[in-house]
Amino acid sequence: MTYSLSVIILAAGKGTRMQSAKPKVLQTLAGKPLLSHVLDTCHHLTVDETIVVYGFGGEQVQEAMSAYNLAWVEQTEQLGTGHAVKVALEKLPQTGQSLILYGDVPLVSRQTLSALQSANTDGMSMLTLTVDNPFGLGRIKRDANGNIEAIVEQKDASDAEQQITEINSGIYCVDNALLHKYLPKLSNDNAQNEYYLTDIVKMAVADGIAIAAIEPEHAFEIEGVNNRQQLASLERSWQNKLVHDLQVAGVQFADPTRVDIRGSLSAGQDVFVDVNVVFEGDCVLGDNVYIEAGNVIKNSQIGNACYIKPNCVIDHAKIGAGVDVGPFAHLRPESVLADQSKVGNFVEIKKSVVGQGSKVNHLSYIGDTTIGTDVNVGAGTITCNYDGVNKSQTIIEDNAFIGSNSSLVAPVTIGDTATVAAGSVITKDVDANALALGRGRQVQKDNFQRPTKK
Ligand code: UD1
Ligand code: MG
Repeated sequence: MTYSLSVIILAAGKGTRMQSAKPKVLQTLAGKPLLSHVLDTCHHLTVDETIVVYGFGGEQVQEAMSAYNLAWVEQTEQLGTGHAVKVALEKLPQTGQSLILYGDVPLVSRQTLSALQSANTDGMSMLTLTVDNPFGLGRIKRDANGNIEAIVEQKDASDAEQQITEINSGIYCVDNALLHKYLPKLSNDNAQNEYYLTDIVKMAVADGIAIAAIEPEHAFEIEGVNNRQQLASLERSWQNKLVHDLQVAGVQFADPTRVDIRGSLSAGQDVFVDVNVVFEGDCVLGDNVYIEAGNVIKNSQIGNACYIKPNCVIDHAKIGAGVDVGPFAHLRPESVLADQSKVGNFVEIKKSVVGQGSKVNHLSYIGDTTIGTDVNVGAGTITCNYDGVNKSQTIIEDNAFIGSNSSLVAPVTIGDTATVAAGSVITKDVDANALALGRGRQVQKDNFQRPTKK
């Protein structure tokens, strides 16, 4: 039988220890808000509705999450995790199941949540883990047969209970009927005067419900963020995992601790990534791609056997096979470099196509331009695409040769196999096979006498 699935995300915490004007769940890990990590993971499950319990900074959180389809419930006072779920009951169906998650526990995986849901056969399942240092966390109490009987919070735990090393992650899958039944009955008669969500375990056990427990694959999946140190350490755990998966897939990192992947990276075989490379958004690398130190690559595709020299910024670009880029190149959005092309030192390309085998090797700006195949663009060439109001197009056809230090004033077309003399300012179209010169004629005065000091 398939149940409808709701997700309840607790996100009312202020995050005082972050010392930030931003609500905690908007702090970023791998370039993305903590809450977005949780929501994106849930997006891969078949979720009927997602309820976010917010408190501090609600408007800011809602605005940042406006791309998601969410039901919002405000918890005006933070009276505990049980209270937080209780305020969500008004939006929760009477039947079906709910995953209870936290906006500041960003890395729980889809696989773990699916397993947790499958484990809920009798009404409730939970994620637990045996750890070296359980201090501060809720402890799992089991009976002589190993069945879960209760969760005891650190502050309520006896000395014996404090020795328990199996901890509560705080993540559960519970039948909605049980939440509707138990939450109104919670009391705050405990060491913290909070309404503990964990008390529903005792209530379920009293009703004869067997509580299933599973462990996450990775410990970091259940780690929360309360301060900047925990955020940095979770970031490293996540980066390690991404790098590990890519190594398994055949990527070589010069130093696995000196690369950051802020998004998704897929790579072919025998890719090499040197130190201090940052990938952002969705990036795809082909086979045999070689990336030297200090590159920032965002939302880009790089084809087989490309060679990216140091210190380039490659942003929303599409690069074919066998292309050389850099050092110090800037590929801005909508740059397309066809196979075997070259973009070299201090070259900026924007919204342009560089055709197969064409070269823009030194000190150029190419914007709003279509370059054909086997074109050579000389050093210092500028496409003048902007008149202060409008952008215009430059077209450079196949086999053209643009002499160094030329300005091509758009809109303008340089014909097939045309030549532009070095230092030209080209304001009119150049026909195929023609030579265009647009510069002052050289004058020579023989036996010139330099001025002397008076
Ligand atoms: C809770 C569990 C504990 C578990 C631990 C795991 C309870 C009573 N205890 O501890 O067994 O080991 O999580 O981290 O549930 N929140 C709200 N509103 C509130 C209170 C909390 O939205 O009124 C949110 C917080 O923003 C946070 C999450 O719930 O995201 C957990 O709260 P936190 O105070 O960190 O957990 P504990 O209650 O200490
Ligand atoms: Mg608390």
